[in-house]
Amino acid sequence: MIGIVKLKYSFDIAEKLVLLKLNKNSIKKVRSHFPIFEAHPNLVYLDNAATTQRAQSVVTAQSHFDLYENANIHRGIYDLSNQATQKFENDRTEIARFLGSGNANTVAFTQGTTASINIVAQSFLAPRLQAGDNIVTTIMEHHANFIPWQMLAQKYQVELRIVPIDKNGDLDLSQLSNFLDKKTKLLAVSHISNTLGTIHPLDEIIGLAKRKDIPVLVDAAQSACHFEIGVDPLNCDFLTFSGHKMFGPFGIGILQVSEKYLADMMPYNYGGGIIKDVKVEKTSFRNFPHNLDAGTPNVSGVIGLAAALEFISGIGKPDMQSHLNKLTLYALDQLPKVPGIEIIGNPKRRIGIISFNLKNIHPHDIASFLNKDGIALRAGMHCTQPLLNAMGLQATARVSFSIYNNEEEINKLVASLKELMRFWS
Ligand SMILES: Cc1ncc(COP(=O)(O)O)c(C=O)c1O
Repeated sequence: MIGIVKLKYSFDIAEKLVLLKLNKNSIKKVRSHFPIFEAHPNLVYLDNAATTQRAQSVVTAQSHFDLYENANIHRGIYDLSNQATQKFENDRTEIARFLGSGNANTVAFTQGTTASINIVAQSFLAPRLQAGDNIVTTIMEHHANFIPWQMLAQKYQVELRIVPIDKNGDLDLSQLSNFLDKKTKLLAVSHISNTLGTIHPLDEIIGLAKRKDIPVLVDAAQSACHFEIGVDPLNCDFLTFSGHKMFGPFGIGILQVSEKYLADMMPYNYGGGIIKDVKVEKTSFRNFPHNLDAGTPNVSGVIGLAAALEFISGIGKPDMQSHLNKLTLYALDQLPKVPGIEIIGNPKRRIGIISFNLKNIHPHDIASFLNKDGIALRAGMHCTQPLLNAMGLQATARVSFSIYNNEEEINKLVASLKELMRFWS
């Protein structure tokens, strides 16, 4: 047996306890887990909905595997490969636990949210569709949770039913019950809007679908970091998210499937690793999740993702949520002090994400001007063109917060926006 090399860096218990109270000092401590802020001390990073910064423990866990434990999984008879396989599968179990499930076989690794949604479209939904069926989604969705359904609808002569929004930026659910009928093959909805920050009332939405036995997909890309999620806690059937939006690596994400539909998940990519038996005449396949893993999976990505979830659990989602709430409320209080600002939407429940425009200034010009003050924010359509069109907008500027952000950064944002308005007028 080869020995296990101990991690040089660990997110130890004492550190976790300090982090449990997210006050001014602990935010400093949280920041110290993100080396990017050492490299760029003046960076005001407000683009967390696009990607969060990478935690040190994530990179350390990944590079430790890559440097000291690297071997291909599921194939070798030798120790190093067996240990890599064990680590990979243990992480699957840990991730299932993070999703409130004791069944690791509900969890598949993918490249991210976009990949997971496309897999559901091709592996689950396409084989069940017949002309005259319908798929229900919302106008609020990221393109990743819109275009795959639109493409299927066009290919199979299926109707795409789109839940609209009201003037405040909440989903208008008045027609949802009528949208969901015997021909509805899937309801696909996000948990939190990546453009407006609206928290969708999933209880109500999923409840309506479940009463009619309609499978539900939840895009949790913007909520996985700080909300309790999982197919069991949310009572949905497909759940997707990306590692890079929760302090983890790029190129890794999750597709969780409810036990009810595990047997309906068909392979969509063919090759090694997913088979039971291959004959010249016919191939038989393993069950989900192993029937999705054709080829070598992103092993160190999975290890990095598990480290990211451990980091999040160390802080605690309720504390993360309340910190984000505090920052959102503070920003909503301060931003209206900027002359000519329009905050986009006023939803009943929102968190972490605020879109806005400044009178007569294109959002790209806002982002360029703020960049000179070290403020990183996003400008454009945020991959939600149908939503922006529905609101009569071309683009917005968007700020999005995470646990390492603080009120001083919001003050800098507001000061910089005021200066821009002075400069422009
Ligand atoms: C709500 C939502 N869904 C899906 C995606 C796509 O995620 P990824 O690019 O990691 O596949 C994003 C990314 O911004 C998102 O915010």
